[in-house]
Amino acid sequence: MQTSIIIHPSSLSSHSCFKDIIMYRTHTCGELRMQHVGNEVTLAGWVQTVRKFGSITFLDLRDRYGITQLYFNEEMNARFDANPPGREFVIQAKGKVLERTNKNAKIQTGDIEIGVADFTIINSAATPPFTIEEDTDGGDELRMKYRYLDLRRPPLKRNLELRYKVNRSVRNYLDTQGFWDIETPFLIRSTPEGARDFVVPSRMNEGQFYALPQSPQTFKQLLMVSGYDRYYQIVKCFRDEDLRADRQPEFTQIDCEMSFVEQEDILNTFEGLFKHVYKDIKGTEITEAFPRMTFDDAMWHYGNDKPDIRFEMKIANLKAPSRPSPEGKEVLLNTGFKVFDDAETVLAIAVKGAAEYTRKQLDELTEWIKRPQIGMSGVVNIKCNTDGTLKSSVDKFFNEEKLKAIASFCDAKPGDLILILAGAETRTRKAMSELRLEMGNRLGLRDATVYKPLWVIDFPLFEFDEDGKRWVARHHPFTSPKPEHIPLMDDLSRYAEIKANAYDMVLNGTEIGGGSIRIFHRDLQEKMFAALGMTKEEAQDKFGFLMGAFEYGAPPHGGIALGFDRFCALLGGQESIRDYIAFPKNNSGRDVMLDAPSGIDEVQKKELGLK
Ligand code: AMO
Repeated sequence: MQTSIIIHPSSLSSHSCFKDIIMYRTHTCGELRMQHVGNEVTLAGWVQTVRKFGSITFLDLRDRYGITQLYFNEEMNARFDANPPGREFVIQAKGKVLERTNKNAKIQTGDIEIGVADFTIINSAATPPFTIEEDTDGGDELRMKYRYLDLRRPPLKRNLELRYKVNRSVRNYLDTQGFWDIETPFLIRSTPEGARDFVVPSRMNEGQFYALPQSPQTFKQLLMVSGYDRYYQIVKCFRDEDLRADRQPEFTQIDCEMSFVEQEDILNTFEGLFKHVYKDIKGTEITEAFPRMTFDDAMWHYGNDKPDIRFEMKIANLKAPSRPSPEGKEVLLNTGFKVFDDAETVLAIAVKGAAEYTRKQLDELTEWIKRPQIGMSGVVNIKCNTDGTLKSSVDKFFNEEKLKAIASFCDAKPGDLILILAGAETRTRKAMSELRLEMGNRLGLRDATVYKPLWVIDFPLFEFDEDGKRWVARHHPFTSPKPEHIPLMDDLSRYAEIKANAYDMVLNGTEIGGGSIRIFHRDLQEKMFAALGMTKEEAQDKFGFLMGAFEYGAPPHGGIALGFDRFCALLGGQESIRDYIAFPKNNSGRDVMLDAPSGIDEVQKKELGLK
């Protein structure tokens, strides 16, 4: 009788050999060293490259663990030539471990090679459509179509290894903190997280649809009502929204919820999670506490709610209606320059050491700011020359004294370049935020090996949706207002002032997590739905289950969800999450390999009651 042996995957990377499964291999291709010289071994893997030298052959054999050189002597070479295995063939080779004459310090097995005594072609391979190496000649779409081949390449392998290790580290930490991993369903009713739902037609309930969860939000809150006071899940979420480098239609969250906690408890627990994972992955400790910044300050100083604090270059608010008494009011009083005088907002940044920018560079920057994505009509500049003089693109409106006042307000030093944008508040602030990041990139200030996490807190409860002309929940409708702001919910004119107990974890200009303290009383939840323009009936129809649960002893609770893909990508030093996901979608939300989404046949449509 054959016994099957199960090897725990984590043991494979550290153990020296697969003693128990010698049929295919005794060792991996990343394992053999000088200490093994003289051993008889069997390896199996993919043919990376073949190099012929007259009557002998060298072959690099690859698997997940590395590359080992196989040496075919004259006798073996004759067999090799009779039926040569090509690139990506799967072969098995037996032989003795030999010390190499030409050692290769670039690979871990570079001191040795296998003197092949016997080999078998296990499976042939068609010629791959791109090179399977560190750098490939394949374009994006081709690599997506043959994702299983792209995944053989070292960079992708390293990313998936990192993802696995982050996953393990997260689980270890949450386990020590008493969290339970509890699964929640995928076929549900809509969860409002601000995106469109993916829907699934129900065969058994004709004309009706499930929605795929945008997050497990309501379920984790129900688990709190059930008393499971520390829940987590590393879970798929589905959102039908426009895609970007850091967005996929299906992505993974580290989703958590806790009971009998306040905001402070959650921030501490998840700052702890970040630090634990960081130490596991990077090997170094972050000892200092994450800085905390209010949403208002983030917008004021950085122009967005996910500030990249790897570099300063704070926005100087020369004129801005969003605070009652703008700091720079005096500086820009009646300049005579219409662009500034008429503008709602005038914002500036001082770019360190960029006064040397040439005319060409400045023109190019103006073109950059005019691109539709940024949408400004121009940028005013003031050069603070190293000799102390100032030179501006609008010299005729500003005398030396006025320019000096602006420079001083912007805290610009000799050698700096001041860039100024003017226009409507929201658009100008957004554009200035982009310009700041762009200048940060150009000056090399956004180093992917530097990690600057922070908490952004005190988010507004509502935001005004210009398209729908209505107030919507800034985070989601289950987020609790700050208790002292609850009375403001009765006055529509004061909605903008209401702050929530909501927070985001931000890393290097990316929102990696968001959460809030929740509403846990039926009446406040009803008030919230009413504030969002829902009738009592609508609220009851959509969220009656949750409000009903609140009547059966709901504990105070709150939580957070971290974007797992984003967390992994940033720890890997990249902003795009695509190559940290084994099988991602392209920018149009397509799986190029499966050619999905696709049409379905008429029978299926009929069964589902779809026209
Ligand atoms: P939120 O919507 O802020 O909160 O999502 C949490 C985190 O998930 C990540 N994320 C994404 N990552 C990749 N692709 C996407 N399309 C995508 N959308 C979001 C982000 C984000 O910070 N239920 C609440 C959490 C809570 O309140 O506890 C929620 O889902 O990193």
